[in-house]
Amino acid sequence: MLIRTMQTIIGTAIDQAVRLLKAGEIAALPAETVYGLAGNALDSNAIAKIFAAKNRPQDNPLIVHVSDMEMVSRLELEIPPLAEKLAERFWAGALTIVFKKTKKSLIPTEISCGLDSVAVRVPANEIFLEIIRQCGFPLAAPSANLSGNPSPTTAKHVYDDLNGRIPLIINGGNCEIGIESTVITLENNQIRILRPGAITPEMLSEFAEVVVDDKESSLSPGTRHKHYSPKAEVIAVSAESEQAFTDYIGETKFAVANPDMQTLFAELRRFDEQDADRIYIRLPETSGVGLALYNRIIRAAEFKIIEVGKNK
Ligand code: TXA
Ligand code: MG
Repeated sequence: MLIRTMQTIIGTAIDQAVRLLKAGEIAALPAETVYGLAGNALDSNAIAKIFAAKNRPQDNPLIVHVSDMEMVSRLELEIPPLAEKLAERFWAGALTIVFKKTKKSLIPTEISCGLDSVAVRVPANEIFLEIIRQCGFPLAAPSANLSGNPSPTTAKHVYDDLNGRIPLIINGGNCEIGIESTVITLENNQIRILRPGAITPEMLSEFAEVVVDDKESSLSPGTRHKHYSPKAEVIAVSAESEQAFTDYIGETKFAVANPDMQTLFAELRRFDEQDADRIYIRLPETSGVGLALYNRIIRAAEFKIIEVGKNK
């Protein structure tokens, strides 16, 4: 009975989202990574609404969300064989692939901010997927936060940032992954990671040589901007041991000794609500998903890293 009621509520929310999106409106939707702020990817007006609601800089391109590879093939992009293999293995999932546009590309220039490429992924969330299927068109969706804030991993985070600025938020609970997708480009049979995420270099290296482009000024325009920042100052601590970290931070409760994907952004927001001045985060090893965490933490800390308990 309860399950039937839940399905009815979610069904109604899906209908409402589809109606809004078909009418050129925007809506916040749950994804497995972080909440997205969706609009029709083929409609320049809807895209303008997304940029305005988020206060997003005009030079930071959006990811286009599709239901499957068949929908990609209708967009008139160049699809190399390596992309097909990666899509088969990792879609639906947290891998965003950057495709070159052909001359006939249907993607409005506002999405990719004038670049000759478009970033595309299939979200692994049934609500999001069902909405794309019912719309019948792809949905552009950046993270559903105000630009610069930590990405939202609950509907409440979206509400806190965008209440009054958008017509609908669908509550799909906590995001399973909690960090944005891995963004890659493909060139000369090489995989270049522009933004690390839950799909790790180790997982991708089964398919081709992998290069991590984790520099401050990366090809991925979004990684250049101030990002993931709570109001508090974030201090990234590279500590030899957990003990060294604990000794360094002293009494403060605004600290994360073992950051994990699901809770990192939520912790930053929670500490802000408690009026923290400074938040200390211990940097993880950069293997596996640690690379994605490391990437987000050093950006939140504006690339300042404090070393403790080393070189004694
Ligand atoms: O998990 C995710 O990726 C979430 C959910 C909603 O799907 N979306 C998300 O979008 O994180 P956003 O807009 O916050 O981040 C998009 C990233 C930015 O770093 C942007 O620069 C990069 O993708 N990007 C988009 N188009 C690109 C392109 N054509 N070439 C290179 N990077 C691109
Ligand atoms: Mg974002």
